[in-house]
Amino acid sequence: MKLKTVLLATAIASAPIAATAADMTIGFSQIGSESGWRAAETTVTRLEAEERGIELKFADAQQKQENQIKAIRSFIAQGVDAILIAPVVATGWDEVLEEAQDAEIPVVLLDRTVDADESLYLTAVTSDLVHEGQVAGEWLATEMDGADCRIVELQGTTGSSPAIDRKNGFEQGIAGHDNLEIVRSQTGDFTRAQGKVVMESFLKAEGGENICALYAHNDDMAVGAIQAIKEAGLTPGEDIKIVAIDAVPDAHLAIANGEMNATIELTPNMAGPALDALEAYFADGTEPAKWIQTESKLFTAADDNQAIYEMKKDLGY
Ligand code: AHR
Repeated sequence: MKLKTVLLATAIASAPIAATAADMTIGFSQIGSESGWRAAETTVTRLEAEERGIELKFADAQQKQENQIKAIRSFIAQGVDAILIAPVVATGWDEVLEEAQDAEIPVVLLDRTVDADESLYLTAVTSDLVHEGQVAGEWLATEMDGADCRIVELQGTTGSSPAIDRKNGFEQGIAGHDNLEIVRSQTGDFTRAQGKVVMESFLKAEGGENICALYAHNDDMAVGAIQAIKEAGLTPGEDIKIVAIDAVPDAHLAIANGEMNATIELTPNMAGPALDALEAYFADGTEPAKWIQTESKLFTAADDNQAIYEMKKDLGY
């Protein structure tokens, strides 16, 4: 049911008419399955929709923006009530967002932001991506306590908002610490396989003994890099400190095993707040804030990572 219809009906009946969740059909354009975090987000979104009786139409874009745009157009043609988009990159969305707006279909962005006018979407449910990078940088600065450290960085997907913001945030976090220097920075596309390949090239180019720390924009790339570090005869977590983002189960396990040092949690439950906002919007026209911010939390070896690993595995993450 469209908002205009709800408001018109409300005016006629002079009593609020609530669209129940069970009436809703929502299209979800997901990026793909590049990381453990992404798979968890997909699982949680399906569960959240199911629990509310919402029909979820799911489209996996296999990392391609063109597939996302096609899926969104197909959702518009099918007349869905709302669309969730996890945008693979930040630019190039204006036209399709305008088409959704013309069709009076509200759009909610999940986990990544876009470079488009904010009037083109209802709300964005994301973490503070810059802050995550900043926390990682500050953690490393504290850990090094003034000692010299040559850092390598594994960036996320080129042009994606987390890759851009987490890079900027980390640079802010280490600013003013002249002992810390990023000596290599390259994309590993948020995948475990690329994380390993790019870390191998860093180790070869720099020499493992000349790398003091790895900052990875997500845990999957860090886990791939851990493998590369071990194969190079070094001890991850000791010879090379590792900080990343997501706090997926495998990162907690790696910290519990001493092979990784810190991770910043990104909740995979973006759909809960998104569907809450849509339900309120359809019930009585409540406009959500443009940014619904999810929490970020730092985990280090000081936490009970084995227990957290088991708990998150039980949750199906
Ligand atoms: O947009 C969120 C990022 O996308 C996650 O940190 C990463 O794992 C995923 O691929």
